[in-house]
Amino acid sequence: MNEAKKSAIIVVSAGIMQIPALKIAKDMGLTVIATDRNPDAVGFQYCDHAVILDSKDAEGHAKFARENREKLNVKAAFAGSDCAITVSAITNALGLSGIPMDVAKRSNNKALMKERWIRDKIPTPYGAEVTTIKEAQAILKHIGFPAIVKAVDNAASRGSMKIDSEGQLQQAIENAKAASATGTAIIEEYIVGNEQSVESIVWQGCHYPVSIADRIFGYHPYHIETAHVDPSTLPSEQKKRIYEVADAASDSLGIDFGPAKADMIWTAKGPMILEMPARLSGGFHSQYTTPLSSGKNPIRAVMEIALGRDLDETLIRGTQSLTSICAGIFPPKGQLKSILGVEDALRIDGVEEVIITKYPEDDIEDYIDNARRFCWVIVVASSKKRAFEIFEMAKNSIQFEVV
Ligand SMILES: Nc1ncnc2c1ncn2[C@@H]1O[C@H](COP(=O)(O)OP(=O)(O)O)[C@@H](O)[C@H]1O
Ligand SMILES: [Mg+2]
Repeated sequence: MNEAKKSAIIVVSAGIMQIPALKIAKDMGLTVIATDRNPDAVGFQYCDHAVILDSKDAEGHAKFARENREKLNVKAAFAGSDCAITVSAITNALGLSGIPMDVAKRSNNKALMKERWIRDKIPTPYGAEVTTIKEAQAILKHIGFPAIVKAVDNAASRGSMKIDSEGQLQQAIENAKAASATGTAIIEEYIVGNEQSVESIVWQGCHYPVSIADRIFGYHPYHIETAHVDPSTLPSEQKKRIYEVADAASDSLGIDFGPAKADMIWTAKGPMILEMPARLSGGFHSQYTTPLSSGKNPIRAVMEIALGRDLDETLIRGTQSLTSICAGIFPPKGQLKSILGVEDALRIDGVEEVIITKYPEDDIEDYIDNARRFCWVIVVASSKKRAFEIFEMAKNSIQFEVV
């Protein structure tokens, strides 16, 4: 087909996690434009047009979209990484399907979403944006310890830390502010319970449930996802309640189109929401574990509506009931010398992918945020128990030599 006649989609970010989205866009017969600030981004191999642009450069993307809309027939934009603002800048510049900029900004700023949710009585831990220790101390009077201090507009737990005493406050605020483009931090009540990642799509006034995964965390006082299990093993009544809170939370933020991904914790008082970016999940959830466990294709469903087409509900209905897990391997700090046994691991029945983003001679740092992880094994099996048994076999076969 003549490229000028094909519709094009801009996929913002071309890192390893965006490879499934780039392949899906290609399978849909679209011209695939991928952007990334890294000229060597691994996803560039899967696109038609590679554009060097930082995923957070909303203006740069809007300019590129305006200048190339005719030539490339740009019809949609998709958030690969945490960049709903950039996608909104493109869709608003071209008048394509998407969300308004103020909604995108709210979905990317934990202080703005908190304000809305407190106003609308959405169950969320109490918290507030602070700049100084004094302001944080005033909030701590209401919430007490433990508390959590987080960056306002970052992701992957960057700049986030649980604190148990006032002695930890200064360092926690400094870390959070440094990881936040706003130069502020958010401090909130620390809640306890099992955590979920909740994915929904909003289209023409309706909320469509997509998937709920259980998330397992370690490395406290930091919050590193060591594994997630898709689908969640929670009973269906609890899942229903989780979706109700997610729907109310997205309405409160004004997300009236496209993906909404919630982080929630099921507490003694029921589900409480931590955050809701207007994009699909990362962490290999929408990309791998949901399709593998259920046969759903959330990425394609979102791309279809981004193109202005109807939501194809069959893409998010599911055709099978397996369990898929994405579990990390965490070699110790040091310098990586060699990696052996990956091929053997991949030969184990049920091991779908082994994803490693470091190479020999790279340094392994302390695990203080999710961006420091570098080895994931994705498994699909008939049950959660079996999936973790298979993961253990894979883990035993992969050897990291670290000095
Ligand atoms: N109020 C809280 N109480 C308990 N744990 C929290 C709280 N806020 C965040 N966390 C933990 O920290 C992780 C990261 O926080 P989150 O708000 O999701 O930010 P992000 O994922 O953007 O870094 C969460 O997934 C959760 O494990
Ligand atoms: Mg989160």
